Amino acid sequence: MSGKTFESARYDLAVDTISRHDVQNVVSWLKAYPRLTMANETLAFEKAWSKWLGVKYSVMCNSGSSANLLMYAALDSTKLAGKRRIVVPATGWVTTVAPAIQLNWNPVMCESDSKTFGLDLDTLEKLLKKHRPETVILVHVLGVPNDMTAIKALQKKYGFQILEDCCASHGARHQGQMIGTFGIMSSFSFYYGHHMSTIEGGMVCTNDREVYEHLLMLRSHGWLKDLPKAKAQKIMKKYGVDPFHSPFTFVIPGYNLRPTDLSAHIGLIQLPQLKATVQQRMRNHLVFQKRLEGHFEFAREIPGDHISSISFCAMARSTEERKKVVRALEKNRIDTRIFTAGNLGRHPFWADKYGVFSAPTADKLYRCGFFLPNNQSLGRREVEFVCRVATEALRA
Ligand SMILES: Cc1ncc(COP(=O)(O)O)c(C=O)c1O
Repeated sequence: MSGKTFESARYDLAVDTISRHDVQNVVSWLKAYPRLTMANETLAFEKAWSKWLGVKYSVMCNSGSSANLLMYAALDSTKLAGKRRIVVPATGWVTTVAPAIQLNWNPVMCESDSKTFGLDLDTLEKLLKKHRPETVILVHVLGVPNDMTAIKALQKKYGFQILEDCCASHGARHQGQMIGTFGIMSSFSFYYGHHMSTIEGGMVCTNDREVYEHLLMLRSHGWLKDLPKAKAQKIMKKYGVDPFHSPFTFVIPGYNLRPTDLSAHIGLIQLPQLKATVQQRMRNHLVFQKRLEGHFEFAREIPGDHISSISFCAMARSTEERKKVVRALEKNRIDTRIFTAGNLGRHPFWADKYGVFSAPTADKLYRCGFFLPNNQSLGRREVEFVCRVATEALRA
């Protein structure tokens, strides 16, 4: 903000977490002409990520969307998908849901919780009773954890596996437990503007050995080259594959969703900075909550949970009121947009196939939700300025 007044500054929703210093670091690394395609840096980043999250296995890929696709594909490949019935959230990102359509699963959409904007528990239970899905995928919306205690209780009662889309919730916790460790798999995104970035990039995490092995094959053409040696040898024996053929033996139908070692190297630089980024955004988040209380609705964490804040979502009372606020924000060079995708069930990709999904909270997020900038480049005074512009717009 140096040299600028709050009124003349720009407030971007997303800024890069890759600093000049990080770029210098990458340049020094590149000067040694390292291997750039997936190799040791990827393995090192996966190991570091597993340690940070507290899981056994992590598989890096080229985006959070690819990580979501891999989660579905791994359930198919291991036959855990069963009859491919899945509950998907109305609030989240398109690629949380799209693989269900692309892979011909049977998705049913779930209303959003009015407090966390995650899955609405009453609706979820109704859907579980009616459809008996094998899988539930959920999104921790903008770093606000779902009520995982309640969802685990439902899991015990109805028996389903959980996929956690944590693409915008790195470091959030539910009752002390890291988000991304509750399901059979979890996904993360390292896209620009997220809590940390590898330019493009994603990660799938799991504690399940078989799922892990399928993820390794699915990420890379379905071949056995990337498998742990003992597993690869077992497969070679089973199919009578000789060593000359083995690197190019395709075990399952796979994709190419590999990251580069360049991205993984950046990930290794970024990971130690994640904590500070999350803390700064959280400090800002608390200012937003305090200043916007009584003016707008917004997500609330369950007591004892820890949010890992990204853009701050607020909800106006009506679309008209949102228009007024958006005009004022734009006039003051404060970046804004709709709230993620609002209600995914109102977008053509869903509605054209299944009809429009309508539910009170998801619809309200669609009609009245908007983003306010929260990133690590902003501090208390900038956030207070943003809140002032938004609240004063209500009085205009
Ligand atoms: C909840 C959620 N899931 C998935 C994604 C997709 O991640 P990517 O942009 O890395 O493909 C995003 C992106 O913002 C997201 O917010």
